[in-house]
Amino acid sequence: MAVNYKNIGLVNTREMFKRAINGGWAVPAFNFNNLEQLQAIIKASAELKSPVILQVSKGARNYANATLLRYMAEGAVEYAKELGCANPEIVLHLDHGDSFELCKNCVDMGFSSVMIDGSSLPYDKNVELTRQVVDYAHKYDVTVEGELGVLAGVEDEVQAEESHYTKPEEVIDFTSKTGVDSLAISIGTSHGAYKFKPEQCTRDPKTGRLVPPPLAFDVLDAIMKQLPGFPIVLHGSSSVPQEYVDIINQYGGKLPDAVGIPEEQLRKAAKSAVCKINIDSDSRLAFTAAVRKTLAEKPAEFDPRKFCGPARDLMEVMYKQKIVDVLGSDNKLAK
Ligand code: G3H
Ligand code: 13P
Ligand code: ZN
Repeated sequence: MAVNYKNIGLVNTREMFKRAINGGWAVPAFNFNNLEQLQAIIKASAELKSPVILQVSKGARNYANATLLRYMAEGAVEYAKELGCANPEIVLHLDHGDSFELCKNCVDMGFSSVMIDGSSLPYDKNVELTRQVVDYAHKYDVTVEGELGVLAGVEDEVQAEESHYTKPEEVIDFTSKTGVDSLAISIGTSHGAYKFKPEQCTRDPKTGRLVPPPLAFDVLDAIMKQLPGFPIVLHGSSSVPQEYVDIINQYGGKLPDAVGIPEEQLRKAAKSAVCKINIDSDSRLAFTAAVRKTLAEKPAEFDPRKFCGPARDLMEVMYKQKIVDVLGSDNKLAK
């Protein structure tokens, strides 16, 4: 049976994006696949009074079951209230939707926002598919994110050999023809924990660590000039904290030369029309670091709560740090 997100306490992205752009901050978009991630996201955002976007990918739906995830999001609204947040602003968003049917299914299941990612399609096909999703979603006041430009790395199952920055000359045509509410762009971020090849980076002579190249802020500026005040989204925005990578490697993991987006660049982006910043890999790294460390230090432990608990705690620390130090979305609820 179809359900509208408004009846389960969720909100779409429209108002929060307006406030974020006007206020020079960005809404965190955190992916979740399991209970511990969801608990940590809600605890961090409710305690800090931050709007939050809960992202569900196609892979997450396959892993955890689509119905279960959607009811978990409904439960998250009540959990936020229990934590003292009387009017939480929680968006349930489909991340990287790849077909009209998937987007429709999410709208019908109570999602308040969907992304249709036609970025790997020829331009005209991307416009056509995105328009079709917008026409359906807007009937239910569900907001839609489209994408122009291709990120390097893995976009769900789409492997892009190299990134293709968004072409500023296409953005007016795309947004006006499709009617999207926000636009994901490519300016040098990418998915996963290996955002740049070592040869694209320099090395810090003191630490020997990789220093990535800067994002293409000139492309972002050109896009914002074409679309003043239009909500822009940055995917692939994990910073791959070295402390988590070090813990993982110290306790038997193997993540050589993992590298992310430096946080000062994300801070700069958050102050612009970039009003949604996607973070998934940092949560995976925090989870893995805590699990590896706990199991290495307590080899006799076999109760999952004993290693998933520390993983949840570390993710909460990470989410809070992003909200306060990087995105500036704390204390930004409407009421
Ligand atoms: O952009 C991709 C997200 O990090 C989701 O990843 O498809 O492995 O769930 P996933
Ligand atoms: P990261 O892999 O950098 O966390 O990006 C996540 C993302 O863009 C989800 O859509
Ligand atoms: Zn993404």
